[in-house]
Amino acid sequence: MNLIDGKRITLGVCYYPEHWPESEWEGDLKRMLASGIETVRVAEFAWSLIETEEGVFNYDFFDRFLSLAESVGMKVIFCTPTATPPAWLTEKYPEVLNTTAEGVPFRHGFRRHYNYNSPKYRELTERIVEKSAAHYAGHPAVVGWQIDNELNCEIAEFYSESDAAAFRTFLKKKYGTLEELNKAWGTIFWNQTYTDWQEVDVPRPTPTNRVNPHRKLDFYRFISDSACSYAKLQSDILCKYKKPGDFITTNGLFGNLDSHRMTEESLDFIMYDSYPNFSYCHGLYFREDPTKDRNWSKHLSEVRSISKNFGIMEQQSGANGSMEMMAPVPKPGQITLWTMQSVAHGADFVSYFRWRTVTKGTEMYWHGILDYSGRDNRRLAEVGQIHEKLEKLACVAGTEYRARVAVLRDYDNIWNDQADVWQRNLDEASIWGLFQACQHTHTPYDYVYLDHCGEGDLSRYDVVFYPHGVILTEEREEILKHYVGQGGTLVFGCRTAVKDIHGICVTDRLPGLVRDLAGADIPEYTAVSPEDGSVKAVWDGTELRTTLFNDQITARGDAEVLASYSEGYYKGAGALVHNRYGHGETYYYGSVFTADVAQIFLEKLGAAEPFGEVVELPAEVELAVRSEGGDARGGFLFLLNFSREPQAIFLKREMENMYTGGMEAGEYTLAGYETRVYKYIAIE
Ligand code: GAL
Repeated sequence: MNLIDGKRITLGVCYYPEHWPESEWEGDLKRMLASGIETVRVAEFAWSLIETEEGVFNYDFFDRFLSLAESVGMKVIFCTPTATPPAWLTEKYPEVLNTTAEGVPFRHGFRRHYNYNSPKYRELTERIVEKSAAHYAGHPAVVGWQIDNELNCEIAEFYSESDAAAFRTFLKKKYGTLEELNKAWGTIFWNQTYTDWQEVDVPRPTPTNRVNPHRKLDFYRFISDSACSYAKLQSDILCKYKKPGDFITTNGLFGNLDSHRMTEESLDFIMYDSYPNFSYCHGLYFREDPTKDRNWSKHLSEVRSISKNFGIMEQQSGANGSMEMMAPVPKPGQITLWTMQSVAHGADFVSYFRWRTVTKGTEMYWHGILDYSGRDNRRLAEVGQIHEKLEKLACVAGTEYRARVAVLRDYDNIWNDQADVWQRNLDEASIWGLFQACQHTHTPYDYVYLDHCGEGDLSRYDVVFYPHGVILTEEREEILKHYVGQGGTLVFGCRTAVKDIHGICVTDRLPGLVRDLAGADIPEYTAVSPEDGSVKAVWDGTELRTTLFNDQITARGDAEVLASYSEGYYKGAGALVHNRYGHGETYYYGSVFTADVAQIFLEKLGAAEPFGEVVELPAEVELAVRSEGGDARGGFLFLLNFSREPQAIFLKREMENMYTGGMEAGEYTLAGYETRVYKYIAIE
């Protein structure tokens, strides 16, 4: 039975029966059900409870819990427990531990201290996953499986001896010969040439951390490959046993991991862990920034690029906290707001973290729905109200987030920018700027991963931004050409196509592979120093403040310079070039898309406020739209007020308020944190 079945949007909760007296389980499960929670996730950190000593398996504890769950009608997501190996295991087999780059092993006492490549850990993983799958796959209460917990969270770099050996194997497979490896890594520079495979290692400490960047790029690819293969090892076993309809998933999006590939190879869909109040938690005190939680809409757009309909395995329901972190409890309405934020972006299942706040250990301040006493509280009452709202949104289940604007990304560039500040500074500015501009102009947008994209996949978008595709391949260039050739509008930012797939700078005239498509030639470029601040360029009467980087562009062929820099030593050089290609057009902008610049592009290209004829909203309110297959003719408008202040909205036509069933039109006020969902039918 699949949780994400397009029929209803349901609630779950993370539960830790091992934290509470058995006598309280039944009461807990019944109270959950009474609040509309239909599914619990269990066992992701419970290896020691199952394999008490090496090779001795005992399922009594979870047998009792699962039969209780079955008897009260609670569904269960059962987890593989591999995120936390038992103490007996790491003590006996220290080779399973991840280490620092210096080779110092991470010891018992936290979590995620193992490595993906140790043959022993893989063997012990296989055994426990096989045992649990064989034992519980047929259990009527079980509806799905979570693999591990948050792969690559907390640490996403691996340096154990097993990793070093596996890295060599990965590279041998990729390059075949040392000659090819030397070429790809540019090892002629600083005498780094390898003459024997044994010399090739994971990046170890060097006098500064300015290690060969091509090697680092392959190291990140290798880590992703290791995590994907580890997930597949588990998924292959679960697939052999699970009931038809039961799902396999894992939770979270973390660094150095191609989550698209992992999902394609091993999961039915991805689940995300959404903690919007994380933005408050820096140091001992919290910062009050009432709109930072909107940033999670950006993360949810990433999740959506993997699975259009997904689940939230951990949705924040209490204060974030640790021994080093203190933050506020969600204010009245915020749990609803964050839940609806997830649903607006495509979640059809939302599970809260966690039922009751644990009294001990590292996370005793990381609050759940209930506080330590377990007594009923305001947050539990809010969960009950959310359930009632979601029941009314059953027809939203299975519909998709709808966007006509896309922002392209790809893992090569994401990983390259970790080792390359000439890209990272630009990416950070543009990803944030585009997000803000789209938010403030109520322009829904998707992320599309170019490395997981087919030729026709972009055709549904009117405007596509590819901010800083520093690394570009011919295959990806073909996808871009196809999109523009068929009538699309593609916007590039500075430093496009500067590098090849290994991260080596190309000697072609810039912008390398896209110079024909963009109709651009870039003889010179520069970073913009802080004392220069920003450099002005004017586009058809509108001032663009270019910051951080300036490509100085001339137009090629029939292309046209639309804006030139009007200050500094390159005054008069092109800042924006427009080209026609096939039925479409390109814009090459020589700088980054700060929020102001991105907004100018959205407005000039006619992409801003696509629902402006239906609803008028202040910038504080996010608009998201879900519709059948992303169809334009009808759907559901989600209005999310992220500010604590009331906000005026104006409905320009009569629409059904899905929470109340009433028809509404005209002016309304959304209270602080209030959400509404309207059914929308387009006028043809
Ligand atoms: C997640 C994790 C949970 C819990 C939670 C709160 O990253 O999956 O186990 O640690 O954060 O910190």
